[in-house]
Amino acid sequence: MSNVKTQEVLNQAVADLSQFSVVIHQAHWYMRGKSFLTLHPKMDEFMDGINDHLDVVAERLITIGGSPYSTLKEFAEHTKIKDQPGSYEKTMDDHLNNLLEGYRYLRELCAKGIEVTEEENDHVSQDIFIGMKADIEKTIWMLSAELGKAPNL
Ligand SMILES: [Fe+2]
Repeated sequence: MSNVKTQEVLNQAVADLSQFSVVIHQAHWYMRGKSFLTLHPKMDEFMDGINDHLDVVAERLITIGGSPYSTLKEFAEHTKIKDQPGSYEKTMDDHLNNLLEGYRYLRELCAKGIEVTEEENDHVSQDIFIGMKADIEKTIWMLSAELGKAPNL
């Protein structure tokens, strides 16, 4: 059975997780405002989480015969997560809303991964997408709570 679609969605995740780690790092550096002392180190935790997922996804892709993107250029060319130059003008809420948007996009990508791996009967890759989706949804809840909103999954 073909696993072309599974390879594609895994590699999409490689590009997006790489980019998103940079987006979180930017928030870590550029944030200014109330709760800096707790949110600045929180960004390190978020980055660690994203980088852990990245490594698992890339190594699964290799295991099933694929080749993960591995240059900054490839990540930038293939990611669907936007970036923009850093700005000290952004409020803390701007940064958190931007991260929320990225996590919501990744959640949709995981949902697609779950669908495609079902079609191609790759339940190990599916398990990876399910675990990542659970972790991302928990983070969406936490970011939403910080912003005084419901998670709205
Ligand atoms: Fe730092």
